[in-house]
Amino acid sequence: MSTIYLKDYTPYPFRITKIDLHFELEETRTHVTARSHWQRVAAGPLRLDGQELELIAIRLDGRVLGADEYTLDAEALTIAQVPDRFTLEIETIINPAANTALEGLYVSGGNFCTQCEAEGFRKITFFPDRPDVMTVYTTTLVAEQAKYPVLLSNGNRVAEGRRDDGRHYATWHDPFPKPCYLFALVAGDLDCVADSFTTLSGREVALHLYVRSHDRDKTAHAMASLKRAMAWDEQAYGREYDLDIYMIVAVSDFNMGAMENKGLNIFNSRYVLASPDTATDADYVAIEGVIGHEYFHNWSGNRVTCRDWFQLSLKEGFTVLRDQQFTAAMLDSAVPRIDDVRLLRAHQFPEDAGPLAHPVRPQSYQEINNFYTLTVYEKGAEVVRMLHTLLGPELFRKGTDLYFSRHDGQAVTTDDFVQAMMDVSGRDLTQFKRWYDQAGTPHVSVQRSYDAQQKTYTLTLRQTCPPTPGQEHKLPFHIPLRMALLDGRGIPLPLRLSDEAAAVGGERVLELTQEEQRFTFVDVPGEPVPSLLRGFSAPVKLALELSDDELAFLMGHDTDSFNRWEAGQQLALRVLLRLIETQRAGAAPVLDTAFSAAFARTLADTALDPALIAEALTLPAEEYVAEFMAVVDPQAIHQARQFLRRALAAAHRPALLTAYQRLADAGPYQIDAAAMGRRRLRNVCLGYLVELGDAEARGLAVAQLQADGNMTDVQAALTALVHSGAPECSEALGAFHARWREEALVLDKWFAIQATAPLPGTLAQVQRLVASSDFNIKNPNRVRSLVGAFSARNPVCFHAADGAGYAFLADYVCELNALNPQIAARLLAPLTQWKRYDAARQALMRAQLQRIGALPALSRDVAEVVEKSLA
Ligand code: TRP
Ligand code: ZN
Repeated sequence: MSTIYLKDYTPYPFRITKIDLHFELEETRTHVTARSHWQRVAAGPLRLDGQELELIAIRLDGRVLGADEYTLDAEALTIAQVPDRFTLEIETIINPAANTALEGLYVSGGNFCTQCEAEGFRKITFFPDRPDVMTVYTTTLVAEQAKYPVLLSNGNRVAEGRRDDGRHYATWHDPFPKPCYLFALVAGDLDCVADSFTTLSGREVALHLYVRSHDRDKTAHAMASLKRAMAWDEQAYGREYDLDIYMIVAVSDFNMGAMENKGLNIFNSRYVLASPDTATDADYVAIEGVIGHEYFHNWSGNRVTCRDWFQLSLKEGFTVLRDQQFTAAMLDSAVPRIDDVRLLRAHQFPEDAGPLAHPVRPQSYQEINNFYTLTVYEKGAEVVRMLHTLLGPELFRKGTDLYFSRHDGQAVTTDDFVQAMMDVSGRDLTQFKRWYDQAGTPHVSVQRSYDAQQKTYTLTLRQTCPPTPGQEHKLPFHIPLRMALLDGRGIPLPLRLSDEAAAVGGERVLELTQEEQRFTFVDVPGEPVPSLLRGFSAPVKLALELSDDELAFLMGHDTDSFNRWEAGQQLALRVLLRLIETQRAGAAPVLDTAFSAAFARTLADTALDPALIAEALTLPAEEYVAEFMAVVDPQAIHQARQFLRRALAAAHRPALLTAYQRLADAGPYQIDAAAMGRRRLRNVCLGYLVELGDAEARGLAVAQLQADGNMTDVQAALTALVHSGAPECSEALGAFHARWREEALVLDKWFAIQATAPLPGTLAQVQRLVASSDFNIKNPNRVRSLVGAFSARNPVCFHAADGAGYAFLADYVCELNALNPQIAARLLAPLTQWKRYDAARQALMRAQLQRIGALPALSRDVAEVVEKSLA
C-alpha cells in the first residue's frame, strides 16, 4: 500500500487557465467531455488522475492522440510529450447508477449529484485532482427534461434551452478559480424554495434551497439559518458572500454531513429538513450549525483553500471554530461549549490515544478519506480557539482579516494561517505550532500551595504527553490556561503575579510553555479555590486534586458556567469510579450523600438556566468514564452509571416529578434557546423517572408519547421506555413505525433508539432490523442509525463478552468494503480500540480485524485502518 508524505510535496508543473465541462447525463452511461487550456510552469510529464473511467478519446490541440502517445493505468493518464501551451479535450464515459461509493457522480433518489472532496473528481474525468490546481469552470449539463427538470452547477447560469429530442440543457459559469474538489452538479426533479439576502454592501443574493416536493414544508429553518449565518459572518469576520446566487440541495444518500461546493452546497438531507413533528431540538441546532459551517467555508476553504490534503485542518479546524462561535452566539449560552467538550472527550481523546492517532496536520496518509477525523475537525478547532485565547478577540480578528486578504485566491498551509497571527500580534508562535505536528492529548498536572504568612499562592504546572504512533517523545506545548482564584463566597480575587506591579483583574490566561512552570500570586488574603482551564481553554487532561467539598463549592459558585458544569462532572466521575471499585470488591453500592445533595441543589436552583441544569444533571458518558480506567470494563461502567441514575431517581423522585410538571410546555411550541432548555431539562427528568420503572413514571412517558407534540418530546419519551425495557415499549415502537415509515429521517431515529438500548436483547433485535425491508445497506444514514449506533453508541452491548457484537460489526464492514469503502472504514473505528480492553476481548476484536484484513478485494480505506490498528 503506498503512503503519501507531506515532505514530498511538489507544485504541479502546469497551470490550467480554464475548463469547459460537458455532461450528457444518462443513468448508466454519462458522457463527459472536458476541454481545458494549459500552460507549462515547470518541467515534467503531464499526469492526470483518473479512476473507473472509460476513455473514449483524447485530443491535444484538436488532434486525436494515438494509443502510443499516452499511458493509462488504473490511477492515471500520462502524456509524455506536450507543448508549453495547449488545449486538451478528453472524452470519458462513467456509470453513475452503479456508483454506490457516493464519490464522484452518482444517483440518489433518482437525481444526479456529485461529491468530489477529497478525490472524487478523478472519477468524473482525467484531471490533476489536487487542491492547489485551481481553474475557472464552465459546465453544461444535458438531460431528459421530464425526468430532470432542474440542472445545476457552480456559479451563475449563463445559458439554457431545449433540444428537440426531449432533452434540455443549462450552462453554468463560476468566475472564481477553484480546485476540482469544489466542483458540483445536480440534475433532478426537485422543488426550489427561494428567498434572498441583501449583503452589507447592498448586493442582493438569491437563496435557493432544492428539496423533493414532499419535503417542501421542512425547509424554513434551514433557510432562516442560512440568512443568520450570512449576517453573522459579515459582523463577526467581515466576510461577505461573493456570487449572486447561493444554492443548497438536499440529498438522502450522502457519506458525510454536507459539502461546501462553490455556490452549490450539497447536503445530507438530515442537515436541511426539519419540522417540529419530525426533528428534535438537537436536530434544529445541528442544522443551523452545519448550514453555517458550509456557508463559512465560502471564505475559509473556498476563497482561501488548502495547498494539499495535509492542510485539511486549515479549512476544517478553522471552519468548525467559526460554526461553534456562530452556534454559541445564536443560542447565547454555555451549553454548546459543554456539548463540544463532551464530544471531544468522549470521541477525540480516545482517537488521540489509539493506534490511529495523528497530528492535526498529519505527516502521511494512505487514504485521505480516513483523515476527516475528530482530530482534524474538533481538535483542529480547539487549536484555532487557543490562538483566539492567546491573542484576544481584537488581534485574532486582525489576524483573520490579514489571512483572508493576503491569501485570497490562493491554496495555502496552516503555517500561513499562523504566520498571519504572528504578523498582527508580533508574537512568536513557533512553539505553538507543535499543536499541529504532535499527536496525543497532553496531561497537565497542578500542585497548589498557599503560604498564609506571605499571603502567596503558588500553582506548579507540569505537562506531559503520551507517546503516539511514530512519536515516542513530545516537546512541550504552548498551553493557554484561563483561570481565576475564588474566595470563600465564590468571588474571583484580583490576580497579581509576583513579578507584576499591579493586579490584572479576576481572570487571566496563564501560558504554560515549559515542562514544569511555577506561577506565584501575591496579596492572596486567604486560601482560594482555583478555577482552572476555564471554558476548556486547551484540549488537555487536567489533573488537579480538589476535595469533594471544593468540587461541590465550584459546582454551586464558579462564575464560569463551563467550569461550574465541569466541577459537577468531575464529582460525578469520582463517584462513578468509586462505585466501580465497590462493585469489584463485591460490596453493595451506596449513593454518595454529598453528590446526591449537590444533585438536589442543582435541580432546585431556579436561578440557573434550565439548559445548564439539564447539562449538570447528565452524568458523564460511559465513553468518558472509560478514559479513566487502565483496562476498560464496559459492563462495570454501565452498571455503575445505571446504579447511580436509579439511586438519584429514587432519592429525588418528588423533586424530579415537580420539575417535570413545572416545565410542562405552556403556550405554542417554539425553537429558541429558552424553550429548548426547558424541554431538555424536562426530558432529563423524565429519563431519570422512567429509570425507576414504576407504572406512574412509565405512564408519564406514555402520555408524553401520545400527546404527539413535537419530535423532541416524542423521541425522549420513546427512548426512555425502550432503553428501560418498559413493557409498553413494543407497542410504542410499533405505533411510531406505523406513523413514520415513510419519513426516512424519522425512521432513522426509530432504528437508532433500538440500536442504543443497553439491554441484553439488543443485538438480536438489531439483527432482526437489518434483515427487515426497511433496512438499506446502500443508504449511509440508515447504516449509521443501525450498525453505527449499535457499535459506537452502545458500549455495553457492543462489548458483550462473547464477541457477538464484534462479529456483527465485522460482517457489515466486509459487506460495505465492496459497496462504500468510506463508510466501511468509519464504521470500523470501535474495533480499532482493542488495546483498551481485557485479554479476552482483545483477542476477539483482533480476530475480527484480521478477518476483515483477509478480505480478497480490500479497499484502501479499510486496509489502512486495519493495518494501522493491528500494527
Ligand atoms: N468538506 C466537508 C465538510 O464540510 C466534508 C465532506 C463532505 C467530505 N463530504 C465528504 C469529506 C466526503 C470526505 C468525503 O466538512
Ligand atoms: Zn467542513
